[in-house]
Amino acid sequence: MVAKKKFYITTPIYYVNAEAHVGHIYTTIAADVIARWHRLQGEDVFFLTGTDEHGQKIQEIAEKNNLKPKEFVDKISTSFKQLFQAYNISNDFFIRTTDKKHEESVKKILQRLYDSGHIYKGHYEAYYCIGCEQYLNEADLVEGKCILHNRVPELRKEEAYLFKLSQFQDKLLKVIGSGEYCILPERKRKEILTFIQTGLKDISISRQKKQVSWGVELPFDKNHTCFVWVDAFWNYLTGLEMNHNFKKFWPVDVQLMAGDILRVHATIWPALLLATKNKLPKKLFVHGYFTFDGRKMSKTLGNVVNPMELVKKYSVDAVRYYLFRDIPFGEDGDFSETALKARYNGELANDLGNLVSRVLSLAEKNFNGKIKKHPIDKKLSAKLDLKKISKHMENLELHLALQEIMGFVRNCNKHVNDEKLWEKKGKDLGLHLYSLLEAIRISALLLQPFIPESTGKINKQLSIQLGSLKDCKFGLVKSYSVKKEGILFQKVDDEKHSHQQIDYFSIEPQLKKQGINVCMALIKNVPIANKNNKIEELKKEVAKKILEGNINNDNVLDGYREFYRKVGLDCLPAADNLVNLVKKNKGFPNINNVVDCYNAVSAETGLSFGAHDADRVDGGLRFKTANGSERFVPLGERLPVKINEEEYAFMDDKEILCRMDIKQCDKTKITKNTKNIILYAQGNRNVKDGYLKDAVVKVCETLKEIYGCEYSILKEV
Ligand code: MSP
Repeated sequence: MVAKKKFYITTPIYYVNAEAHVGHIYTTIAADVIARWHRLQGEDVFFLTGTDEHGQKIQEIAEKNNLKPKEFVDKISTSFKQLFQAYNISNDFFIRTTDKKHEESVKKILQRLYDSGHIYKGHYEAYYCIGCEQYLNEADLVEGKCILHNRVPELRKEEAYLFKLSQFQDKLLKVIGSGEYCILPERKRKEILTFIQTGLKDISISRQKKQVSWGVELPFDKNHTCFVWVDAFWNYLTGLEMNHNFKKFWPVDVQLMAGDILRVHATIWPALLLATKNKLPKKLFVHGYFTFDGRKMSKTLGNVVNPMELVKKYSVDAVRYYLFRDIPFGEDGDFSETALKARYNGELANDLGNLVSRVLSLAEKNFNGKIKKHPIDKKLSAKLDLKKISKHMENLELHLALQEIMGFVRNCNKHVNDEKLWEKKGKDLGLHLYSLLEAIRISALLLQPFIPESTGKINKQLSIQLGSLKDCKFGLVKSYSVKKEGILFQKVDDEKHSHQQIDYFSIEPQLKKQGINVCMALIKNVPIANKNNKIEELKKEVAKKILEGNINNDNVLDGYREFYRKVGLDCLPAADNLVNLVKKNKGFPNINNVVDCYNAVSAETGLSFGAHDADRVDGGLRFKTANGSERFVPLGERLPVKINEEEYAFMDDKEILCRMDIKQCDKTKITKNTKNIILYAQGNRNVKDGYLKDAVVKVCETLKEIYGCEYSILKEV
C-alpha cells in the first residue's frame, strides 16, 4: 500500500498576556482551512497551534493581576482553547510552552547548543521592546518608539548568554535566496534578504533570573532563564515529539504568521535548526496584518475585536467566510463589521443559502425530496473550474479559491432563474434538480474547509457524507433523498429589532364585530426587487392627474387599472397581482406605495394586502381603533402626524404601522435592506376566511418557490 502523503502545518503560538483577538483567530482559521483542504485530499495531516506562556511580558501582567504566572497563563490559555473550539478549529494538538515535556525538551536543546559551542557567555547591549518581546535596531524605531506598540524600548546592558547568529548569515542568505527555505510572498523574501545583508549580530538568549524568573532555566546556569523566543520556536518540534510523530512529520510543510514575527522566523529560527542539524521548514507563509478601522490592532494598544463576541453576533461561519473572502490572503487589510455583514447577507445568505433552499424546496414540493440520477446539464457543470480552485489552494490564494467557488454558486442560482425552474414540472424539472443537487454537494465539499458547520448542515439535508476531493465529480450520487431543515444563514442587520420573534397578532373585538378579518404571515429571507421605475412614474402621473382634477375620486380606480395594464399586469384579484409583481420584479416590491396600486385595483374584491419590514416592528401587533393619542409617522416623512380618534389602524407597541386609508408608516417600510416581511390580507365580512388565507399562502408559496423563502402563518390571539 502506498503511504499517505504527510502534511504538517503550524501557526505561531500566541502570547497569553491577554485574551485572544481577531488577529490570532485569523492565522488559526487560515491554518485550519489549509489543514482541512489537505485532509480532503486524503493526506495525513498534523495541525499544531498553541500558546506561548513564558517571558517578561506575561510575568509582569500576572503580577499586575495579583496572580501567580502559572495561574494566569492557565486561565488565558484555556480561553484560547475555548475560542478555537468555538471556531471549529481542527488542530491535532494544542501545545503550551509551560508543558513540562516541552520545557525538558528546550533544556536538552540548550545544552546541545552550549556543548557544541553555539552559545557563549558575554555582555549584551540592545534596545528591547517588551510588547514584541524582541530586540530592536535603532532603524526600527520611529521617534524613539516601537511602531507596533507605540512605546519606548528599554536599553538593556547586561551579562547574558549569546547565540552565535552571526555565523549563520551566509548560510541563511543561501537557503533563503535559493528557495530551499521558501519565504512567501516574494516581497517578504526580498525584504528579509535585504535585512540579513545588513549584517546579523549574535543575540542574547538569556535573562538573569532576578530580572525574568518566568522562563525555562538554562541547564548550564541556574541564574539565567531562556529568552522566550528560543523556548517558543522549539514548540514546532516538541509538539510533534509529544505526539511521537516527529519522524513522520518533520520538516514542517507550511508555517503561517504575520509580518510582525517574520524577522525572527527568518533568522534565529532557521539558525537554531541549522545549529542543531535539523531539517529546515519547507515553506513559511506571511499573511497580511490587518488593522481595525484603520489602526493596528494589538493587546498592548487595547483596540481589539473580541472574536467570541463576533461568533455570538454573526455565527462562526460568517466570520470564517468573511476573513478569507474579503481580505486577500497575503495582503494587509482592514477588519470591518460592515463588510462582514455585507458578505454574509449578500453571499452566504443570498447566494448559497437561497440556492440550497430553492432547490430543496422544489425537490420536496414536486418529488417528495426524492431525486433520481439524470444526465448532467453540461452548461451548469462546465462552470466549475476545479483545477483553478485547486491551484489557488496550493498557492495559498485562499481568497481566490473562495471567490471561484462562490462564483459557481452564483451561476447555479442564475441557472434556476434562467430556466425558471418554478414553472417546470416532471422529468424536465427532475433533470435540472439532479444537476443542481450535484452542484450543491460539490460546492459544499469545496467550501467545507472554509465553513465546516454550514456545509455539514447542507450535507445533512442532502443525506450525504462529506467525502473527499476525488468526489468532486458530477453524476456520482445515484439518487438523492433530501429534507429541508431550518434556515442555513439567517441574515443579520444592525437594527436592535432584528432577532425578535413574531408569532401572533390580535384583532380588537369591536373590529371583529364589524367583520374585519385578517390572515398574516411572517416571510423570511425575502429578496427585495429593485425599484420599478415604470410603476413609480405611472403613480406620479396618477397623483398629478388627481391633483389637477383630471381624475376625480370616482375614477381613481379606473386610473390605476389603466396604468396597471400599461405595465403589463392584468387586473386580477390582489393576490394574483402581487404574485405577478413578485415574478416580474425579481423580488418583493420594495416600494410600499405599490400596495396602494394593487390593492386599489382589487378593491372590489373586498380584500387588501399590507406588507411591513418584520425586523422593524416593535412587538404587539394588533388591529384596533385609535384613541387619538397614537403616534404616526407617514411613509417618507420624519415627524408624527395627528390621527383621528376612532380611525382604524394596524399598530405595534410603539406606533401605528398602517392607517385606515392604507397610508403606511415610515418605520416599517420595505427597503432594499429588508430581509423579513410580515404580509397580511384583510377583508370585510363579505370575504370568506378561507379566501384570505388562500391569498396569503399564494403569495408566500410564490416567494418560496422562486426564492426559497421560509414562511409561517401567524396565530390570531
Ligand atoms: N508568541 C509569539 C509567537 C511565537 S511563535 C514561535 C507571538 N505571539 S502573538 O500573540 O503576538 O501572535 C502574533 C501572531 O498573531 C501574528 O504573527 C499573526 O499570526 C497573528 N496576529 C496578531 N495580530 C494580527 C493582526 N492584526 N493581523 C493579522 N494577524 C495577526 O508573536
